[in-house]
Amino acid sequence: MEVAGGREMDVEVIELDMIEINNLTVSVEDKRVLKDVNLHIAQGETIVLLGPNGSGKTSLLKTIIGIPGYKVESGRILFSGKDITGLTIDERVRLGIGIAFQRPPAVRGVRLKDMLRICMEKRGDFKEEKINEFARKLNLLNCLDRDINLGFSGGEIKRSELLQLLAQDPRFIMLDEPDSGVDLVNINLVGRVINELLEKDKMASKRTKAGLIITHAGYILDYVNADRGCIMLNGTVICSGNPRDLLEDIRTKGYEGCARCLK
Ligand SMILES: Nc1ncnc2c1ncn2[C@@H]1O[C@H](COP(=O)(O)OP(=O)(O)O)[C@@H](O)[C@H]1O
Ligand SMILES: [Mg+2]
Repeated sequence: MEVAGGREMDVEVIELDMIEINNLTVSVEDKRVLKDVNLHIAQGETIVLLGPNGSGKTSLLKTIIGIPGYKVESGRILFSGKDITGLTIDERVRLGIGIAFQRPPAVRGVRLKDMLRICMEKRGDFKEEKINEFARKLNLLNCLDRDINLGFSGGEIKRSELLQLLAQDPRFIMLDEPDSGVDLVNINLVGRVINELLEKDKMASKRTKAGLIITHAGYILDYVNADRGCIMLNGTVICSGNPRDLLEDIRTKGYEGCARCLK
């Protein structure tokens, strides 16, 4: 539906699940980090994942992308109907899953520009001028010739992760605290690029993307419209609802209040 000003409104409910996580229990080094997690994300949908430090948010994203060491004890993960639980990280990325890490490593000896070129070549869509266009969008032109994330500031790392996602163009986009450590000027750029990655200019039913965004303080919600929020506590997704209502509840009652509310 078109509204005044040409902006499209989401009026349709999308039924096709892009990500389906069923009864997922995961351990790392014999420590259980996820317990019986259930989460469905439809194509076109954007979910924000809230939760206190150490509740398992990052572990969930790392398990979905397939980081070695995150051992699935039970349950499964489906991507566009395909069981990916046993696939390697590169197989999952090739299928169209992408992640911007909370704390990515620096890659000594690999220039950011070369990584972007490789990602675009793999997709058969390499154009030199695209690299500059993407970097300009994220105010990172000065970082292109540097080793990936090496000596980058906190904000530059966050933007460099997004830049790599622009080059990869994944269908399912996971962002681990894209708003933390980003200053007020750059958070605008970050929001704009996330909206572009998630095709937020289209109606939900026309989008081919879906997103899962972890946010601690919820700043990113001022720039990116999320359809649903979920709260993770002690390794389990305990509830879901309107993201702003959930944030307000957390602000007023704390996460302990959320746990009590369930009882
Ligand atoms: N690779 C790992 N080795 C040991 N413990 C881990 C590892 N990854 C996560 N954990 C533990 O799992 C818990 C959840 O961590 P994490 O998923 O990073 O939480 P969040 O992102 O919600 O802050 C924490 O207690 C953390 O120390
Ligand atoms: Mg985390």
